[in-house]
Amino acid sequence: MDDRLQRRIQRYGWDRSADHYEGYWRRQLEPAQALLLRMAELEEGERVLDLACGTGLVTLPAADAVGPSGEVVGTDISQRMVELVTERATELGVRHVSFDRMDAEDVGFPDASFDAVLCGLGLMYVPDPLRSLQEMLRVLKPGGRAVCAVWGARKNCGWAEIFPIVDSRVSTEVCPLFFQLGTGEALSMTYEAAGFGEVICKRITTVLEYDGPDSAVGAAFAGGPVAMAYARFDDETREAAHAEYRASIEPFRSNAGYRIPGEFVVVHGMKK
Ligand SMILES: C[S@@+](CC[C@H](N)C(=O)[O-])C[C@H]1O[C@@H](n2cnc3c(N)ncnc32)[C@H](O)[C@@H]1O
Repeated sequence: MDDRLQRRIQRYGWDRSADHYEGYWRRQLEPAQALLLRMAELEEGERVLDLACGTGLVTLPAADAVGPSGEVVGTDISQRMVELVTERATELGVRHVSFDRMDAEDVGFPDASFDAVLCGLGLMYVPDPLRSLQEMLRVLKPGGRAVCAVWGARKNCGWAEIFPIVDSRVSTEVCPLFFQLGTGEALSMTYEAAGFGEVICKRITTVLEYDGPDSAVGAAFAGGPVAMAYARFDDETREAAHAEYRASIEPFRSNAGYRIPGEFVVVHGMKK
């Protein structure tokens, strides 16, 4: 797919889904974000960049970790995400954070200006993840580290049918390479290709719990990557897509709800 189209799908899709994001996904993504923050080992006084920061689920804990003597900058391709997280930081009175709308492939900061770069569940959406990792390396100080979390392999993510179900109803695939980085050693190898040393990869399994079909279907179709396509579906198309998705997660039924398996991959690398 054309890279510019993919960026537009992400940018405007996440604009649409930003206000629902935490309601549907906060609890589900927490294990990956917590592992990412543990692997980053942030210290007081450090300067940190959080790429694809979304509503700040990684940015704000990172700001806590570096304290007011440090600084965290969050960037995201979606203007709505940037607005939401800016409002939240202001409400919370966190002053050592700032936010900007920015593509993770084109990082507008000087060389060697951060101690750590983080990217939680964002790199799967970037058309050229190698370029993004090269940008992370460029803006890191020597000895600085980049830690990225992505979803794991398709076969280990029980909700994966959402993509073909939506793709079959639109003219282009909405997120063609979504599971690529989480498969095998792909993310570690991309780190190495970008020039990182001390590459450490951790893979964790998780369970996405939903109390019923409405929350399971809602979460899947409210996600940024499919939001643009879904917004154009008429009622009949929506109902057919919902029914197909419900059938795809039927094996994970648990009483009235669902326990859908998932997998995350978190990789750490250091600038030599
Ligand atoms: C699943 S959310 C993750 C948000 C946050 N990092 C977290 O852990 O909750 C994915 C985010 O990636 C952003 N995104 C997608 N493509 C991007 C790109 N090319 N550059 C920067 N951000 C991007 C989206 O706007 C969205 O906010």
